[in-house]
Amino acid sequence: MTKEIVVSGIRPTGNLHLGNYLGAISNFVKMQHDYTCYFFIADYHSLTTHPNPTDIHNHVKQALVEYLACGLNPELCTLYVQSDLPQIPELYMMLNMHAYKGELERVASFKEKARTQPDNINAGLLTYPVLMAADILIHKATKVPVGKDQEQHLEMARTFGNRFNRIYQKEIFPEPYAFNYGSELVKIPGLQGGGKMSKSDGDASVIKLNDSADQIRKKITKAVTDNTPLEPNTPPSVAVQNLLDLMKVVSEKEKLMHFTAAYANCNIRYGDLKKELAEDMIAFLAPIREKIIEFQSDEKLLSHIVKLGKEKAHESADKTLMECREAIGFKKF
Ligand code: ADP
Ligand code: TRP
Repeated sequence: MTKEIVVSGIRPTGNLHLGNYLGAISNFVKMQHDYTCYFFIADYHSLTTHPNPTDIHNHVKQALVEYLACGLNPELCTLYVQSDLPQIPELYMMLNMHAYKGELERVASFKEKARTQPDNINAGLLTYPVLMAADILIHKATKVPVGKDQEQHLEMARTFGNRFNRIYQKEIFPEPYAFNYGSELVKIPGLQGGGKMSKSDGDASVIKLNDSADQIRKKITKAVTDNTPLEPNTPPSVAVQNLLDLMKVVSEKEKLMHFTAAYANCNIRYGDLKKELAEDMIAFLAPIREKIIEFQSDEKLLSHIVKLGKEKAHESADKTLMECREAIGFKKF
């Protein structure tokens, strides 16, 4: 039986954090065993914000290193850099001919960007969903592991794929859908008492995968807590619950039970809670951090991995593009 095809793109936006790892990447790592997976670093997409050439290379390298350190295995999945695949912009161009200004202007992510960066509302930003559709359709993927915020883009990928099939009367593209293991979405809280851990909340709120032991200790020591409760069995405030939730992820069950009970009995010592949480967090992330350091210095291996990914991705992309060119009527002389 042929396995279903999975595609997901990762924007190279600097260091990954614990939330990215547990909410997204650990999913990718699992999927590579069950499906034919294509994971890529979306550097074409990052051009909408006009990064400088040095930054772009460093960010792509960092993303690659961190994904490998988290367990993406280039022998189990195809891991490539988007700009190594010129087939993607060719398909993007074809799809653009049947993508309309009206529908693109209604996309939530475009409206948001147009509002926050009014001086740079470029055509690439408007057609971001078309490029994303090309990323997915080029490998004929049916499953796309992404967060909730990407649902609308997925819907557009289905629209553009179906439209192409209909116009050129060929069943080239299957319908891609957003995918998640299990029904419960993981939400890792931040350290500053807010909702989910997110890089937009600033450095103090996130634990990055390449934070040193010292940085982790400092961040957790400074995490927001609350007064010790006065009444037994008071429900913990959001900030305290966040720390207990992090403990649930990285510590032994008994430890979590101990601090939960201490809170309920009004004798919790936040200093102790933070100390234990920090040490367990450091131990939890140590293997990833060690691998980050290892991969970072192995330019030869990285270049081999990127080359391998490029070759594998080209094969699948060429096949699809041939079908599209033929359907459109481009013929060899
Ligand atoms: P950020 O919010 O830091 O900007 P992104 O939006 O780039 O992170 O998210 C990349 C991926 O990581 C998405 O699939 C998202 O669902 C997942 N993710 C990010 N933060 C968390 C979190 N705190 N808990 C669980 N998953 C998360
Ligand atoms: N738009 C996605 C994000 O912002 C990244 C992305 C680009 C992507 N192309 C993709 C995700 C294709 C899945 C499939 O996170």
